[in-house]
Amino acid sequence: PRVPRSTAAAGGWTPVAPNVRDTVTVPDGYRTRAVINWGDPVLGDAPAFDPFAQTEESAAKQFGYNSDYVGVLPINDATALLVVNHEYTNEELMFPAGVYTPDEIRRIAIQSHGLSVVKIQRVGGPSSGQWRQADPENRYNRRITGTTQFEMTGPAAGHDRLRTTADPSGRKVLGTFNNCAGGQTPWGTVLSGEENFNQYFGKSGALDARYTTSYARYGISGTGDRGWKSVDPRFDLTAEPHEPFRFGWIVEIDPFNPTSTPRKHTMLGRFKHEGANIQIAADGRAVAYMGDDERGDYMYKFVSADTFDARDTQASRLRNMQLLTRGTLYVARLTGDDAFAVDASGNFTPADGEYDGLGTWIPLTSDTTSYVAGMSVAEVLIDTRLAADKVAPTRMDRPEDVQPNPVNGKIYAALTNNSDRAKKWPVDEANPIASSYTRPSLGAPLTKASGNRNGYVLEITEGGGDHTGTSFAWTLLLVCGDPESPETYFSGFPKDQVSPISCPDNVAFDSVGNLWISTDGAVLGGNDGLFRCPVAGTERGHVQQFLTVPVGAETCGPLITHDDLSVWVAVQHPGEGTGSTFATPDSTWPHTHEFPRPGVVVTWKA
Ligand code: FEO
Ligand code: CA
Ligand code: CA
Ligand code: CA
Repeated sequence: PRVPRSTAAAGGWTPVAPNVRDTVTVPDGYRTRAVINWGDPVLGDAPAFDPFAQTEESAAKQFGYNSDYVGVLPINDATALLVVNHEYTNEELMFPAGVYTPDEIRRIAIQSHGLSVVKIQRVGGPSSGQWRQADPENRYNRRITGTTQFEMTGPAAGHDRLRTTADPSGRKVLGTFNNCAGGQTPWGTVLSGEENFNQYFGKSGALDARYTTSYARYGISGTGDRGWKSVDPRFDLTAEPHEPFRFGWIVEIDPFNPTSTPRKHTMLGRFKHEGANIQIAADGRAVAYMGDDERGDYMYKFVSADTFDARDTQASRLRNMQLLTRGTLYVARLTGDDAFAVDASGNFTPADGEYDGLGTWIPLTSDTTSYVAGMSVAEVLIDTRLAADKVAPTRMDRPEDVQPNPVNGKIYAALTNNSDRAKKWPVDEANPIASSYTRPSLGAPLTKASGNRNGYVLEITEGGGDHTGTSFAWTLLLVCGDPESPETYFSGFPKDQVSPISCPDNVAFDSVGNLWISTDGAVLGGNDGLFRCPVAGTERGHVQQFLTVPVGAETCGPLITHDDLSVWVAVQHPGEGTGSTFATPDSTWPHTHEFPRPGVVVTWKA
């Protein structure tokens, strides 16, 4: 077995207690700093951040808002590319009253979405886990925004439903929105999921009746939008009914090629993509694991037709860049191994003491053949949710990150919560909780609430270890919550030794295969945080809190670097509904305290 270099992976730290501090809190002996925040320069000619003088031109050169995915792609031991996305904007926290017109705010917001590529450098020598931003004057730094041109790939590219007034080809799309989690590919690129894209589309009149069913399944109503149609007519469903079909995809960015056109891969289906993470199967094919983050929606995987070429040549790189354009898309059905039985709270009670069973990956379409009756290949890819509805997959409790563990080859999925479980869908062994306990504030007693409020972590073992296969075994690693709540489950680990955990969202792994879980929307009275949970041996299920973020924020990323020296998280939407300042004490970066500045934080052992 490998001996971890890191202290963060190896242990030796005291868990952070639940708290409502307005700062990033890490264990004793660790240091943390904000590496880059909203408004900081990404491009060399970006103006200094001034919340009273923002423009769309400056926003297009500065670090965007609300990072979720965090990728660190090494250039060498001392430098790396930080690749992060900018999921959405909190206009109520970004703009002082009376300074900007509504349309100015919308234009700046469009440029504050997308992704950033930022060169970073290690501080303090080769064994240090501390990093800072490098000089923005370098060949890599890049902003991708709501108006950057993307190219569609795969079987649905160019389809009539992807064509608009501005793009009769159906292949050239402007921008990416609501990019949530993501993953780094073995061929050196970054994948990012377009998640809640429906919220950007308004209407000036009637909606196109041809798309009533599709719009409804994706929550596209033309109401409750951000008013963007007043600055760009493509966000008006009445005028451009096809524009929303150009969002809801997995996008791929090649950060080492800063002039490359980013792409949207239709072969991976269209839904509220949380993210995508790649596993190379034993036969060399690339397998992408994905979640559709909506209450009662599904988990998916894609298996490429072609094989990964591990050689480091230009030809192999070009070949690998085509892996996500041809293959087969599957959706997951899970069955339990125990008969249906519930307790007085309506929670599923497994006779064998474990929430586990078997599952099937049901094929939806390949790049040439649809397996869904009455739908073409392109229709399955554009209306993936409607296609999946026809083959009876398992309705899950909001699948967020779904990621392979590089050490044990198993797949881990964060199922964040589902207040509608039991109300809309009956419990089953994979979604067992009909009522759970939450706490309105720290120190308050636990109170019972309907539905699954604290979430699960699911572990999947592919049949025969074959990631390309169609059968698997599954088990719930965790039923999250306060360990004092009767419904919680930590794979049998003693509950009096675990940290309370609620609403798992993003997952990551360290060099020895420990699972790291970040949370969003924790309902146990404390701030969101980052947790470590071993998945093997006697420590399996031993959840411990490593870090907490400021009030109002969710913890995103996370990323444990391959050398285990650095723990990265994104602090997303600090102050949302709360008034955080995100005044990180160890930060050497300026903070504008009236305007909490979401950003990316690194933690290392002092
Ligand atoms: Fe953007 Fe599913 O979290
Ligand atoms: Ca069982
Ligand atoms: Ca998420
Ligand atoms: Ca989230």
